[in-house]
Amino acid sequence: MISIVPKPVKMQETGGTVPSSAETVCAMDESLPEEAYRISIRNDRITITAGSEKGLNYGKATMKQVRLQCPESIPCMEIEDAPAYPYRSFHMDCARHFFTVEEVKKMIDTASLFKLNSFHWHISDDQGFRIESEAFPRLQEISAKRKGDHFGKFSSDPEEHYYYKRTEVKDLVSYAAERGVDIVPEIDMPGHVTAILAAYPELSCTGAAVEVGTRQGIFPDIFCPGKEETFDFIERLWDDLLPLFPGKYIHIGGDESPKDRWQTCPACKKRMEEEGLINFQELQGYMENRIAKHLEAKGKQVICWNEAAYGKNLENNVNIQMWTEDREESIKAHIARGGHIILSTMMNSYCDYPYGFISLKSLYGQLEAGDRFGQEYMDAAIGTECLCWAEFINTPEHLEEMAWPRFAASAECGWSGKNGHDYKDFKRRLTDVFPLFAAQNINAAPPADWEPGKLKTLGQIKDFFGNFTKEEIDAMKAASKRV
Ligand code: ACM
Ligand code: ZN
Repeated sequence: MISIVPKPVKMQETGGTVPSSAETVCAMDESLPEEAYRISIRNDRITITAGSEKGLNYGKATMKQVRLQCPESIPCMEIEDAPAYPYRSFHMDCARHFFTVEEVKKMIDTASLFKLNSFHWHISDDQGFRIESEAFPRLQEISAKRKGDHFGKFSSDPEEHYYYKRTEVKDLVSYAAERGVDIVPEIDMPGHVTAILAAYPELSCTGAAVEVGTRQGIFPDIFCPGKEETFDFIERLWDDLLPLFPGKYIHIGGDESPKDRWQTCPACKKRMEEEGLINFQELQGYMENRIAKHLEAKGKQVICWNEAAYGKNLENNVNIQMWTEDREESIKAHIARGGHIILSTMMNSYCDYPYGFISLKSLYGQLEAGDRFGQEYMDAAIGTECLCWAEFINTPEHLEEMAWPRFAASAECGWSGKNGHDYKDFKRRLTDVFPLFAAQNINAAPPADWEPGKLKTLGQIKDFFGNFTKEEIDAMKAASKRV
């Protein structure tokens, strides 16, 4: 039996074989849904039929896995396939550590082989802003530069200065599109903006000078939603970047925004009085809605992290990306108004943690994690995402080892949904297609690491949490209560 990841909807061997050198014919059938495809292997011929280029790409990705397992002759079979969810995303954090265009392309290549169709590109955080802006050149002159790298056990003092040129972004976007992947850029705000504030301090409540971050954490200086100039900046920045990103979705962040500065800011107070906002979570909701409205007027759909819904005033057309499971009632309220979500809660989606802490099986549990919140929640899901933050990852080899094959488990949740959802069977198929990673020159974690035993797990957890001092952990816990 041939193994395919993600599991196709229907796959039937029909007897006999064709040589693997057989001609492959691609055909269009516009009656098929955009992402669906069919493969027919018979009469010395392999036919891939789809309703779009995307569908054809998926058919080719499936054939790549088939050929890998059948170098000489391929069993005759019929495959019919289509995704369960329209949004199947993977994430990279190029703000904390920069990855070159070539390194990002390699991730896109491999993601497309598992039928992931969206790349959530985290390009701005406290420790760096990574895209050339024509409207705000200080973003590449100042916000893209930092005094070394002091994340956990890393220690490096020489100045770093990295960003993607607009020509590189254009190249990457079209490279991804050719592989059926849309790029979803994220400029995180109102929190995680220390790098932007280093260049434009007037956008915070106090206007105090700050430096681009060199350590991990949650920082108190965030954008001031009381000032009109903050909105002018955000809108002009997106207007500057939107021509680079033709895809449907834009991510505007919204996580981990402690309200310390807003509490004592006269401009924020005035805004709340004028808008009738009764708490700081509502003030954040107001801010998200304003940015979303601007982007929606340009034909985009917006995604925010789940904290943006805490005020319960987020417009229902804003999609919520779940990462924490806190304040569940705010998500339920959003869904009740017709809002949608993305399944990506931390313990089933974050691949920057060691396998002993968040295993391959945990990633395969994304759907079950969603089920815990009830059927309305699952009905509101547009899809799934797997993530890899990069505070403690600064080489492509390490990134690849953390991402793969965990990203493939999330890809199957998004593509196959509950159809044949069975971890043991997934692991068997994944083992069969595992040589694909070597063929892609990807440094994937080997099967023995997918669910490490107790001893190895303890070592991994001790090693990982050795990146934090007790004071840093206490400070992060305290800050996350003030979001
Ligand atoms: C997040 O992990 N702060 C979205
Ligand atoms: Zn303010």
